[in-house]
Amino acid sequence: MSVHISAKKGEIAKTVLMPGDPLRAKYIADNFLTDVTLVSQTRNIFYYTGKYKGKEITVGASGMGFPSIGIYSYELFTEYEVDTIIRIGTCGAYSTDLKLFDILNVENAASESTYAKFAWGIEEDIISSQGTAFDRINETAKELGLDAKPTNIHSSDIFYRKDPAVPEIAVRYNCPAVEMEAFALFANAQHLGKNAATILTVSDIIPTHEFISADQREQALRTMMELSLETALK
Ligand code: ADE
Repeated sequence: MSVHISAKKGEIAKTVLMPGDPLRAKYIADNFLTDVTLVSQTRNIFYYTGKYKGKEITVGASGMGFPSIGIYSYELFTEYEVDTIIRIGTCGAYSTDLKLFDILNVENAASESTYAKFAWGIEEDIISSQGTAFDRINETAKELGLDAKPTNIHSSDIFYRKDPAVPEIAVRYNCPAVEMEAFALFANAQHLGKNAATILTVSDIIPTHEFISADQREQALRTMMELSLETALK
């Protein structure tokens, strides 16, 4: 057990797929894994360990934002000897250059957050995906005939804001979309020498207020789930 995860040592696989939403973790376990065990449900943040094509994989939620993914990813890396975390989430596009359902493979996450600085003394405001996971996602996407665009992403603390302008840091680092977790995940992985990647599906186009409906969400996210599962086999 760790402070926020009640799984026993040995009940978490070396590779963890990490959606934001606990029910999405359940969906992956129910639809893609066999021999599934629910290994933690502290705070209703479900973690399931099972097999995908014979390989042991854990899928569990991060919750929303840097504090939440910071806690779960740190405990998984340090208390459960996890090697690789692949976040699978959604993002909002800053312009109509991206379309709903587009899939992004995050190369670098830029943020105004002080998380990396105050947690680990990392002064940079842009942090790369860590280890081999980003390349493995690119390779797997090619094999599956999927377009998973390598991209920089803005990782923000803020979902609702007064000013509709694209934030300066997103302009500076050429980030076409925003989410709220990758920067903290990459910071933890960099500090600990682990692998971390983030795959995102565009769920909303900020300037036009278009978004994927609840009905469309399940099918849309399946492609990203399959990409992460196939990557985990490598
Ligand atoms: N995740 C999905 N859409 C988002 C948005 N518009 N802002 C931040 N995170 C998001």
